[in-house]
Amino acid sequence: MSKLIFPENFIWGVATASYQIEGSVADDGRGESIWDRFSHTPGKILNGDTGDVACDHYRRYKQDVQLMKELGIKGYRFSVAWPRIYPQGRGQINRKGIDFYSSLVDELLNSGIEPAVTLYHWDLPQALQDLGGWANRDVADYFAEYAFKMYDVLGDRVKKWITHNEPWVVAFLGNAFGVHAPGYKDYALAVNVSHNLILSHAKAVQAFRQSGIKDGQIGITLNLSPVYPASDKAEDMEAVQLLDGCQNRWFLDPVVYGAYPEDILALYREKFNAPVIKDGDMEFIAQQPVDFIGVNYYSRAVVKKGRETNIEHVRPEGVYTEMDWEVYPEGLYDLLIRLHKDYNAPVIYITENGAAFKDDKIVDDMVDDQERLDYLKSHFEAAHKAIQDGVKLKGYYVWSFMDNFEWSYGYSKRFGIVYVDYDTMRRTPKKSALWYRDVIENNSL
Ligand code: FCB
Repeated sequence: MSKLIFPENFIWGVATASYQIEGSVADDGRGESIWDRFSHTPGKILNGDTGDVACDHYRRYKQDVQLMKELGIKGYRFSVAWPRIYPQGRGQINRKGIDFYSSLVDELLNSGIEPAVTLYHWDLPQALQDLGGWANRDVADYFAEYAFKMYDVLGDRVKKWITHNEPWVVAFLGNAFGVHAPGYKDYALAVNVSHNLILSHAKAVQAFRQSGIKDGQIGITLNLSPVYPASDKAEDMEAVQLLDGCQNRWFLDPVVYGAYPEDILALYREKFNAPVIKDGDMEFIAQQPVDFIGVNYYSRAVVKKGRETNIEHVRPEGVYTEMDWEVYPEGLYDLLIRLHKDYNAPVIYITENGAAFKDDKIVDDMVDDQERLDYLKSHFEAAHKAIQDGVKLKGYYVWSFMDNFEWSYGYSKRFGIVYVDYDTMRRTPKKSALWYRDVIENNSL
C-alpha cells in the first residue's frame, strides 16, 4: 500500500482522565468525588481496586509530559477533577487545585504539546451527589459556574475545551445499569439525568461564549457506535433504529439540532414518563451550537430483534479485544461518514480510540503489543479514508497515554501505549508508542 499522508497540522494526541490517573485523592484540598465513594464500596470494582493512587500522575505529571514530548505527541486531552477546584462542588474555591492544572498546562505548552481540557470525565463532587447529583437540575448551573471558572483561569492558554465525556455512559451506566458511580438502577432517573447533562452542556457552552476566550473552540465528546442489523429482516432493522436512537441520536440530535429524536422521546415518555423538560430548555439548547464533535469510537454494535427484548446483541466472528469488543475499523469509517452527512458536516476530533489486550508484559525492557499497534493502524487507515472522502477530521487522541484505572474493571485492563508498573510506577513505552512516534513524525502511515 502506498503512503497515507494526513493533513497538515493534524493533531496526533493521547488522552487520559483525572480519576483514572491522578491518585493523591486526599491531597492539597481535593474533595471527595462519586468515584471515590463508589470504588470504596465493596463489590463495585474488580479486585477492590480504587483510584487512590492510580498512576500517581498528580505527583509525576512533569515526568509524564516529558515522556509525551519524547514520543512527539502533539496534543494531550486530559480532564479536570471538579472536586479539586470546588471540593464541595460549588462555593469555596481550592487554589491548589487550580495551581495543579495551571502548572500542567504550562508544562505542556513548554513542551510544544497542545492541551485539550475535558471539564467532566465522571468525577462529580460527592457533595453534589448528596443533593441528587445530575438528577437535580441545579447541578447544571453549578457545572456552568465551575466551567466558567476554568475558562477564566486556563483560557488564556487552553484553546480546546470539551464539556462532557460520554453523557450516555454517565446517565445510563451510572443510573440505569448501576455499574458506574453513583450506582443506581433506575431507568427513568437515567433519562432525566441525560437531559440535565445536555442542559448543563449547553450552559457550559454559553458560559464559554461569554468568557471572552479568543480563538477557542468548544465541543462535547460522545461515545458513538454505528449499529448494524444481523439480517435484513424488518424487525432487525427496527432494533437498529432503537439502539441507534438511544445511544447515538439521543445525544447528537440535541447537540447539533437542539431537539431530541421524536421516536425515542415518545418511547421514554410512554415508558418512564421522562425526561422532565422545562419550557424553554430546548430553545436554549438549540441556541448553543458547538465548534466540534468529539468522537469516542471503540467498536460497532450488531443487533437483532430478541425473543423477549426489542434488542439483542449478536457477536460476529472476528478479532476481539480484552474488553470483548470486536475490532472493526470499518465502523469508524461508516460512523464518520454518517456524522458528516446527517449532522451538517461538523468539525470532528476522535477524542478516544484504542484497545486493551492481554499480554502486555515487559520482556527485556520491551512490551511487544503488536495487537494494539495493528488495532491503531487499521483505525488510522479508516480515519484517513474518511478524510479523503471529505470528513472534517482534525485530530486523533489515542486512548490512552498510559495504562490506568479502567473504572469497574480496576487495573485489570491495560489501554496504554505506555506500560505502567503499578508497584514501582515506572513507565515503559510499548512498541505501539514507538510506532506512533514515527507516525507522528512523518504525519503519515
Ligand atoms: C471510555 C472512557 C474512558 C476509558 C475508555 C476505555 O468509555 O471515556 O475513560 O475508560 O472508555
